[in-house]
Amino acid sequence: MRTTSVIIIFWILVSYPNFQNKVALSQTLSSAFSSHGEWHLLYASIGISAMHMQVLSNNKVIIFDRTDFGPSNLTLPGGRCRVDPLDTALKVDCTAHSVLYNIASNVFRPLMVHTDTWCSSGSVLPNGTFVQTGGFNDGERNIRVFNPCFDETCDWLEFHNYLSERRWYSTNQILPDGRIIIVGGRRQFNYEFFPSSSDNPSSPRPTFFLSFLQETTDSNENNLYPFVLLLPDGNLFIFANTRSISFDYKRNLFVKEFPRIPGGDPRNYPSTGSAVLLPLDENKDMEAEILICGGAPQVSFWNAVKGTFMLALSTCGRLKVTDQNPNWVMENMPIPRVMGDMLILPTGDVIIINGARLGTAGWDNGREPVLTPVIYWSSPRDPNWRFTVMAAASRPRVYHSSAVLLTDGRVVVGGSNPQMNYTFSGVEYPTDLSLEAFSPPYLSPEFDITRPTIMYFTGDFVGYGEYCYVTFTVRKFVSASELSVRLVAPSFTTHSFAMNQRMVVLKLIGVTYVRGETYYATVAGPSTPEIAPPGYYMLFVVNSGAPSSGLWVKVH
Ligand SMILES: *[C@@H]1O[C@H](CO)[C@@H](O)[C@H](O)[C@H]1NC(C)=O
Ligand SMILES: *[C@@H]1O[C@H](CO)[C@@H](O)[C@H](O)[C@H]1NC(C)=O
Ligand SMILES: *[C@@H]1O[C@H](CO)[C@@H](O)[C@H](O)[C@H]1NC(C)=O
Repeated sequence: MRTTSVIIIFWILVSYPNFQNKVALSQTLSSAFSSHGEWHLLYASIGISAMHMQVLSNNKVIIFDRTDFGPSNLTLPGGRCRVDPLDTALKVDCTAHSVLYNIASNVFRPLMVHTDTWCSSGSVLPNGTFVQTGGFNDGERNIRVFNPCFDETCDWLEFHNYLSERRWYSTNQILPDGRIIIVGGRRQFNYEFFPSSSDNPSSPRPTFFLSFLQETTDSNENNLYPFVLLLPDGNLFIFANTRSISFDYKRNLFVKEFPRIPGGDPRNYPSTGSAVLLPLDENKDMEAEILICGGAPQVSFWNAVKGTFMLALSTCGRLKVTDQNPNWVMENMPIPRVMGDMLILPTGDVIIINGARLGTAGWDNGREPVLTPVIYWSSPRDPNWRFTVMAAASRPRVYHSSAVLLTDGRVVVGGSNPQMNYTFSGVEYPTDLSLEAFSPPYLSPEFDITRPTIMYFTGDFVGYGEYCYVTFTVRKFVSASELSVRLVAPSFTTHSFAMNQRMVVLKLIGVTYVRGETYYATVAGPSTPEIAPPGYYMLFVVNSGAPSSGLWVKVH
């Protein structure tokens, strides 16, 4: 037995040309799975720091940083260089600031961005094209488009001055009609759309005033990267600082203001907490609940700048916005956290990952990195058992780090660069160029017996309200009440907020036994584009807590 495993390890070591792969795989083999998840190093360096990440429908992750910190650790191929007289660091720069990471083959290639993408926002259009909006300096009004391809030819296309306002720290949301709304940004109390309603490039594109953003700004501007989430009634939930509203963007109208989050502490940048729209379930009366976790006290930023690092917030607030008179229900995380990323896992639970115990976002203002992710059980069987602390990572992920969910159920994390340039020594938190994956407990072998494998899905798309059939195999199927089919919209994650992220639990019509270990589930497509805007989603079959691998489907 021992000889066999030694031979297998040896075979893997000699067959993989890439050193990082060897490290990652030998770690996989040597450590046993625990029920608290597992960490794996994918790359010690991808050459850039993953400030922004988005999984695309061709199963590749587009990753980018900013351009104005001098050279990265990755040379552009073919002797190409970026010539940008307006760049604040390098006018001629032969290094890459973006990469495309292929999940299946675990390889990446450099991409070319032309102007500064620092602290920007993004969304994927219904046809799968990724649109990045804004940034800093010469990039602040530009958009950049990336059409995913199945070969190695695609790269960024850049459109100058498409945006009518500078968008630095703004938030995007894909809309039911397939447009993208771009909300706020530094000193921007307004929103605009892509595509814009005016196609005439010589006339200014319309932008719409949003007083709520002006009202919620304070001496630290604790309302940047507002949490914008599309509600099933078609209005937007917007949370900024301590306040939140339901907003009708079509008529530029406040529908409702919700109570302030208890405690009076801000939750947006630089007091960065995070937020999700909890799974929308088509098997019940449609309810929408928001969950916001972590952040930092209002005075934390200025204290951190002066060298005093205050304890981060340990509370989460949950608000059922579809109630007549919604009220926040507060819960306590086991660990206080600022700059935590919140991602919805295929099971519908929420992982809170990355960040720090002390300080705030914004450069080197965080201290005591929290290495352990926490899972928030969305519908725990025991209400006193809401959170579970996961296995610890080995690398701090403080400011400018990010996390996204992959189709195989892992969470990939990267980035962390609280320094102004790429700095690898002489500082407490050096620039981190690595990429790591966290495997939540549901990926451990004890779940293999109930884990479904999707074999076949009817058609290429999911029509609104239309029946579709998912054929899967599974060793142990208990009952239809333990089975669900879920859509996850992949997020654009930066600065601890996963834009456009949402989960829709499809209406389950029935489960039919075919033969052997084969079954099929009949489900209805999402009822409306307000519940699930058109576009690409990962479809998961979840059986008794074990998710299948996700399959890309197009909702339209
Ligand atoms: C960052 O790098 C740029 C270009 O190499 C340099 O001009 C600048 O002084 C550096 N800034 C800091 C804070 O080290
Ligand atoms: C990045 O490049 C610098 C300069 O060549 C080097 O000192 C550093 O070790 C590299 N860092 C990583 C993580 O590859
Ligand atoms: C998707 O739509 C956008 C905007 O109309 C267009 O620029 C892009 O080329 C389209 N992408 C694909 C893959 O067709």
